Amino acid sequence: MEERMISGELQGEEQQIELSLRPEMLRQYIGQEKTKENLRIFIEAAKMRHEPLDHVLLYGPPGLGKTTLASIIANEMEGQFRSTSGPAIERAGDLAAILSSLEAGDILFIDEIHRLPRSVEEILYPAMEDFCLDIIVGNGPSARSVRLDLPPFTLVGATTRAGLLSAPLRDRFGVHSRLDFYDTKALCAIVERTADIFHVGIDTDAAVEVARRSRGTPRIANRLLKRVRDIAQVRGEDVISEKTTKTALKMLQVDGEGLDHIDHKLLLAIIDSFRGGPVGLDTIAATIGEESQTIEDVYEPFLLQMGFIQRTPRGRTVTPKAYAHFNREVPEA
Ligand SMILES: Nc1ncnc2c1ncn2[C@@H]1O[C@H](COP(=O)(O)OP(=O)(O)OP(=O)(O)O)[C@@H](O)[C@H]1O
Ligand SMILES: [Mg+2]
Repeated sequence: MEERMISGELQGEEQQIELSLRPEMLRQYIGQEKTKENLRIFIEAAKMRHEPLDHVLLYGPPGLGKTTLASIIANEMEGQFRSTSGPAIERAGDLAAILSSLEAGDILFIDEIHRLPRSVEEILYPAMEDFCLDIIVGNGPSARSVRLDLPPFTLVGATTRAGLLSAPLRDRFGVHSRLDFYDTKALCAIVERTADIFHVGIDTDAAVEVARRSRGTPRIANRLLKRVRDIAQVRGEDVISEKTTKTALKMLQVDGEGLDHIDHKLLLAIIDSFRGGPVGLDTIAATIGEESQTIEDVYEPFLLQMGFIQRTPRGRTVTPKAYAHFNREVPEA
């Protein structure tokens, strides 16, 4: 996939920077009020009972703060944060090894949990439900199953695609939290917080401008801010101005609604090649040379949320809002 300025996915060297920007406690985590409020209560109750927190499933598009929230849960519960991911665990034995090394109160974070192989997933069921591990010792006729106790722990699973999770796995999570795109106000607060950490000033209007064009995604807001800061610095600005921000965003080819050239390509393909749709996802993918999966996970959620496209049983259609965005007339039926 082409690296794009406004992809919600983690890119290149971003990981180091993200670590330094990650809020550590729930009160520093901006936005997602409903999720925060629920977690706050569940965490407090679990701590009062001296029990581990129920297993938590976090889902939502890339870059909205799932990993951040998982590590906050560990901090709030005062447990160790142990982190792995679905694709990293290939065999049942890998997961058994991780589970048997856990200590009481640990938070085990499994990112991209929908990508766990099924045979591995089955190890998780008794681990989540009864804190135990069923392992087979010996082989051939003398093989037998042995049950090992595990210390009480909390599993935090993250996925961009809750729909791909098997029902038995999904049902074993006591807490399900969907992260939503952030509104401009929350993103603006995130931009100002990040500017603070970068030791750079930013005008409110400039922060709003960055926020508005970040597709509701903190990772993108931080990334845009970083580039805007570079340009402000070259221009000798101590405090990032709105004017510089607008120029910078224009150079980065992010438009007034936060769409970039791939969004444009996608929308214009439907408009020009398919008379506005409906057209199937695979056909769109082939037309613009992107993978269907990437379109569905990364590009489409925001376009849907903003009302530029709609999903119908017969495929995707663009809305009058999309036509208006490109100053096009909606064709007659
Ligand atoms: N609520 C928030 N307040 C402040 N910063 C945030 C918030 N949510 C996310 N961020 C910032 O956005 C960055 C991306 O967040 P994070 O890595 O947690 O996203 P993610 O949902 O795990 O993404 P992915 O699906 O790619 O794993 C982090 O560096 C963090 O600094
Ligand atoms: Mg993550």
